[in-house]
Amino acid sequence: LANAKISVIGAGQVGATTAVRIAEKELARQVVLVDIVEGLPQGKALDEMEASPIEGFDTEIIGTNDYKDTENSDIVVITSGLPRKPGMSRDDLLSVNVKIVKEVTEQVAKYSPNSIIIVVTNPLDAMVYTASKVSGFADNKVMGQAGCLDSTRFKRFIAWEAGVSVKSVEAMTLGGHGDDMVPLVSYSTIRGVPISQFFTKEQIDRLVDRTRNGGGEIVKLLKTGSAFYATSSAIVQMIDSIVRDKKDVLPCAVKTQGKYGLEKDLFVGLPVKLGMSGVEEIVELKLSEEELKALKVSADHVKELCNRVEELKL
Ligand code: APR
Repeated sequence: LANAKISVIGAGQVGATTAVRIAEKELARQVVLVDIVEGLPQGKALDEMEASPIEGFDTEIIGTNDYKDTENSDIVVITSGLPRKPGMSRDDLLSVNVKIVKEVTEQVAKYSPNSIIIVVTNPLDAMVYTASKVSGFADNKVMGQAGCLDSTRFKRFIAWEAGVSVKSVEAMTLGGHGDDMVPLVSYSTIRGVPISQFFTKEQIDRLVDRTRNGGGEIVKLLKTGSAFYATSSAIVQMIDSIVRDKKDVLPCAVKTQGKYGLEKDLFVGLPVKLGMSGVEEIVELKLSEEELKALKVSADHVKELCNRVEELKL
């Protein structure tokens, strides 16, 4: 049982599934599930606690509508906000979700001033920017989850295409969490062998395209919401590296600090070493000209969204 207290704000599809995954892996001593809807976090927390004798975990989950219960959390995951409906882009959620993320972040900063914040609400990169500004937390303590999700999708599609175990696939996507994200083909491998040795260019283009539109593919199928199983797995992958101080290298939305030639105050997906203090290092990979250009395009798009956040004068 890891000794962390983790709060998950938003007890919807992503938040509740995240709480369940944390508990079943015993990555915290306590998970506090928070929502504005009365009874929702309490009911989901109780339901999962009643599964604990079968699943065999000792993590305690509590549901609440009161931020006081989140006091002194080590990690706070922000999932509150609207998900997409078919036909919507993540950017369409900006004006509604920015207000929610601002309001939630104020409570997080008040009750858990030393916490690490992981933002999941979309449009992701602009919401991390918002949480960073509102909290005033140090850069290593504010990050967004997107790259781990996009990367696991990319890996799944590669494994299917090659007909191999997912365990032999490595892949990573960088950039913003939008259709212009940057799946790194040159660093995608099957047992260390670049995928270009297994697939034709057409196959690779198809895999990249499916990864970029992976979120939309799920929204189209579900019709009433967006992805949450893989999303919560991706969040928990980050949490696992933090609470166990594993220093796993994972793509996360972080302040660039000028790395990769990007504007220094922007938040976009880059490979980082995650440990107990949060973002411990931005790992600088050698990228091709084409990949660097694509990263810049994606970052420019994020910048536009952040400008929209600024225009709202929160
Ligand atoms: N404070 C706390 N909770 C809130 C607030 C708020 N101010 N506003 C909304 N919520 C809660 C809702 O009551 C709901 O239970 O956030 C929850 C969101 O859950 P879902 O609607 O099921 O959405 P979900 O699929 O979990 O997605 C949440 O994550 O991946 C992103 O794009 C997705 O922005 C979306 C977010």
